[in-house]
Amino acid sequence: MTEKQKTTYSMEQQAKLWAVGGGKGGVGKSFLTTNIGVLLAKEGKRVVLMDLDLGGANLHTCLGVTDLDRGVSDFLMRRYEELEEALVPTQVPNLFLLSGAQDSLNIANPKYAQKIRLLRELKKIEADYILMDLGAGTSFNTLDFFIAADTQLLVAIPEPTSIENAYRFIKSSFYRQIRLYSETPELRDLVEESMDRNNRHGIRTPRELLLHLKELGPEMSDFAEQQTERYRPSLILNQVRSNNDIKVGHAMETACLKYFGLSVDFRGYVTNNDLVRRSVLQRKPLMTQSPDSEIGQDLQRLLGNILQRQKVPPS
Ligand SMILES: Nc1ncnc2c1ncn2[C@@H]1O[C@H](COP(=O)(O)OP(=O)(O)OP(=O)(O)O)[C@@H](O)[C@H]1O
Ligand SMILES: [Mg+2]
Repeated sequence: MTEKQKTTYSMEQQAKLWAVGGGKGGVGKSFLTTNIGVLLAKEGKRVVLMDLDLGGANLHTCLGVTDLDRGVSDFLMRRYEELEEALVPTQVPNLFLLSGAQDSLNIANPKYAQKIRLLRELKKIEADYILMDLGAGTSFNTLDFFIAADTQLLVAIPEPTSIENAYRFIKSSFYRQIRLYSETPELRDLVEESMDRNNRHGIRTPRELLLHLKELGPEMSDFAEQQTERYRPSLILNQVRSNNDIKVGHAMETACLKYFGLSVDFRGYVTNNDLVRRSVLQRKPLMTQSPDSEIGQDLQRLLGNILQRQKVPPS
């Protein structure tokens, strides 16, 4: 990035870090990351999209970036000291890409120290928003980036397989959050055990873990309660085709509270629309091509809801 581009922006605070995850592959994480990023950039925000699907990166294709000569892997391989140096511009003003495409197989699973360095350096990037597009699944790397974000977006589609994976993602990320922040070895071990559904304590859900901890005394129990308050992902339903599909989002919110004891906010939905496929084929983000389409309006409403949520502190 040139000095001139840099000085156009006056950063008042550290970039807001958003993560887009969801457990299941092909639910629209990259599509949503791309188009939410375009919308924010169009509002004049400086936005960096970071492709953390390191084994299957394709954010560059969604954005139509062909001249890809740098990315996250160059930073991890220490070809660049600063992450900022690995940014590439996109067709959209104010929107930059940190690509996850790489030629080194080792990079698909960064080591713990590399992940920490990446997260530390992310905070130094000059931007208003950094949106992380996570890979599918619930690997520790994916969960850790999700947990590190201050806005956690969980994408699902209204189909049983995706719903099942979303629940698994919610459960795993909550357990992982406790393990990461707890300094009590006994609690960390118990959470580790709870991740195995055949554990000897019969703990099947976060709610049952909290009940079990209550019996063990206030120290661990209070800490786990605090983590429950802190855990507040937003659910997004994509590829919605009917009003009944939308109800799935509300039902999942209710089920998370009832069975997991966790608050997951259903933040909005995006309809199924052939324009998405067309935009991918054209390698042009939908929001640059058809912002006023029905799906364009869904995306604008969704972003409005997400931003609104940020103004209200968690209760
Ligand atoms: N709202 C939608 N309407 C129609 N098609 C959609 C919609 N959202 C996504 N798709 C299509 O679904 C496919 C998967 O989308 P995308 O690549 O964004 O998913 P993903 O969750 O990032 O997948 P992966 O886990 O493999 O990275 C794409 O072919 C895309 O065109
Ligand atoms: Mg993707």
